[in-house]
Amino acid sequence: MFNKRIKIKELLSSDKVNYEATVMGWVRTFRNNQFIALNDGSTNSNIQVVAELGKFDDAVLKRLTTGACIKATGEVIASLGKGQKVELKATSIEILGDSDAEKFPLQPKKHSLEFLREIAHLRFRTNTFGAVFRVRHTLAFAIHKFFNDRGFVYLHTPIITASDAEGAGEMFRVTTLPIDGTAPKNDDGSINFKEDFFGKSTNLTVSGQLEGELAAMAFSEIYTFGPTFRAENSNTTRHLAEFWMIEPEVAFNDLEDNMNLAEDFIKYIIGYAMENNREDLEFLAQRLEEEEKSKPQAERSEMGLIDKLKFVVENNFERLTYTEAIEILKESNHNKKKKFQYLIDGWGIDLQSEHERYLVEKHFKKPVILTNYPKDIKAFYMRQNDDGKTVAAMDILAPGIGEIVGGSQREERLDKLTQRMNEMHIPTEEMSFYLDTRRFGSCPHAGFGLGFERLVQFVTGMGNIRDVIPFPRYPKSAEF
Ligand code: 4AD
Ligand code: MG
Repeated sequence: MFNKRIKIKELLSSDKVNYEATVMGWVRTFRNNQFIALNDGSTNSNIQVVAELGKFDDAVLKRLTTGACIKATGEVIASLGKGQKVELKATSIEILGDSDAEKFPLQPKKHSLEFLREIAHLRFRTNTFGAVFRVRHTLAFAIHKFFNDRGFVYLHTPIITASDAEGAGEMFRVTTLPIDGTAPKNDDGSINFKEDFFGKSTNLTVSGQLEGELAAMAFSEIYTFGPTFRAENSNTTRHLAEFWMIEPEVAFNDLEDNMNLAEDFIKYIIGYAMENNREDLEFLAQRLEEEEKSKPQAERSEMGLIDKLKFVVENNFERLTYTEAIEILKESNHNKKKKFQYLIDGWGIDLQSEHERYLVEKHFKKPVILTNYPKDIKAFYMRQNDDGKTVAAMDILAPGIGEIVGGSQREERLDKLTQRMNEMHIPTEEMSFYLDTRRFGSCPHAGFGLGFERLVQFVTGMGNIRDVIPFPRYPKSAEF
């Protein structure tokens, strides 16, 4: 039954006419008891299926409601209507699944993104989310292609982990112990995790990096691409509790190689989407333009979506050190006029997103790579610089998004690494497996993590990260 189906995208991409075709999809609209706009998700464009007057039973026509799923067979003919080359003159229409027009929550009218988030199980059937998730797919594919073409090994790192190296206190616990107070206890009253499923305390991973480093010490270049979890209570348009991260890790790379890789990588995947998803990006550009009309002039972006992406692909990212960035921020009029919520008064503070966005959107007006951050605001594994104050870190900041990539050259010297771990109270015994890479054949290496949803946001122009992942997880919400 399904073999003869032609995808609507394929049908619309050719001006071939006068042949029989079968399409299947969901009715977007049905006008004048005659014209069905049908969509199957292969493209945002609908095929017009014409149910000629008098040819079909009223009983069938009544069931052609928004949301219904149908199979239509007929002749592909040249379209007289605007905006499409061909249409389908139906000879048979079969209802595969009815949709009660009174009850179907999606109407042909424009719904707010907030409302659509509440019906995320149906929002795939809108133009906006159709485009967003096709672009998301293309970006994911481009990521694998980029690394595969360069000989990287795709490494699956564990989702359940016993190490809490990156961000203490931000992890989701994984346990099968009862939560009603009857869990086995140690003498001191604490939970006895020896009795737990894994015989120790475990969590959902915040990053695959540490395991990625282990494999990079064998394959030279690996990458991960998987879900990561953070239990921070951040209710922002840039944070999810469950998000996907891409983490390449490369032996024999230093900080500069790492920056070059990250910049090439971002440009490649954006360029790939521009080439392979033009129609969806143009739709999203249009959507963004409409959305921005309701904003005050000062908040509107200077470039349209496509121009912005083109600009990123064609221009070098600005590279500067944290110390240089602090100088720029300190001397900025914004700071002097006390327009930052967190004023910049000296070296050593962590940058807030308002500072990152100032640098990227106001000062440089392009993506920025900040390097060599103070060691006290960065993770233990980053390579210590000779100044004793900074580490070989790099963050990439993108216009409209802020931090999109975080990475570093890694500390490959065993003594320096253990010393730093001790200073930061990270248990070296539990991390013995990690330290083994430094004990046996250590080498300079570097890597980074790209937040996939932030990238999808950047490319699609969607303002809220909850709108670029099918079923977002965030504080107080794990629907669907
Ligand atoms: O900067 P982060 O925390 O870096 C790491 O996890 C390193 N282990 C990466 C590495 O060197 N291999 O996270 C990396 C990126 C951020 O730059 C951001 O884009 C994204 O992950 N990210 C989030 N995205 C959505 N929601 C959140 N809560 C995020 N937290 C981080
Ligand atoms: Mg970071």
